[in-house]
Amino acid sequence: MATIIGGVATTHVPSIGKAIAEKKYKDPYWRPFFDGFNYVHSWLSREKPDVAVVFYNDHGLNFFLDKLPTFAVGAAAEYRNEDEGWGIPVSQSAPGDPDLSWHLINSLVADEFDVTMCQEMLIDHAVTIPLQLIWPDQAFPVKIVPVEINTVQHPLPSLKRALALGRSIGRAIESYPKNLRVMMIGTGGLSHQLDGKRAGFINKEFDKLCLDKIVDEPEALTRYSIHDWVAESGAQGVEFLNWMAMRGALTGRVREAHRNYHIPISNTAAATAVYTNEKEVGQKAA
Ligand SMILES: [Fe+2]
Repeated sequence: MATIIGGVATTHVPSIGKAIAEKKYKDPYWRPFFDGFNYVHSWLSREKPDVAVVFYNDHGLNFFLDKLPTFAVGAAAEYRNEDEGWGIPVSQSAPGDPDLSWHLINSLVADEFDVTMCQEMLIDHAVTIPLQLIWPDQAFPVKIVPVEINTVQHPLPSLKRALALGRSIGRAIESYPKNLRVMMIGTGGLSHQLDGKRAGFINKEFDKLCLDKIVDEPEALTRYSIHDWVAESGAQGVEFLNWMAMRGALTGRVREAHRNYHIPISNTAAATAVYTNEKEVGQKAA
């Protein structure tokens, strides 16, 4: 059976892609952020996942405001990137796992999540930058299943719904008969706002609350409405929906193995975290 080994969550600001392309790993501005991945690399060298389910939001490369699914799941054999206009190099493609994708899609629809299914799907910087951060200077060594969550065009799904989506995916993976080691990736956030009167807004106290609560009490965060979240975390801070879905998919005993929080990267509060998922004897998926 498939095993969920844990999750990695990270910010996905486009300027990180430029810093990666220019190898600014030791640059004084960038080093506090890139050094936050040293633990991620050592953890993955021990855990050796086969597949990553990536919760992210599309920024207009694959979906646009005219057609924007609340939840979409990739079911392709390969996911390409294209020029998004940020001035960063086009990423290599990421390999897919269509069998696992269809298992997840079937399970989600049976579980009353009526997702959009995508047999062709471009992945944007919200997927490619985290993959490049997690596996620097190497071809991506895992297959991916991208799961898009709308954090762009209101109305957005609730934090409760994103957590439930993740839990449904966690249950589906644990019923998958292949012997795969599966990791979760959640991308985006933390607090930031790109436009309007509050452009540049960051809320360090709220970010800390989120990073604390997501480990043991993710339900506590579901009391915030999306409008509350915009007020506390900024208009783009709602990308935390991707972190909530990632956390929901961790079905066992969850421990924060690593946290790096750094302000600012561009105009964003940047965070990177690793969560382990330990299955207790006799435990069934929550
Ligand atoms: Fe974003």
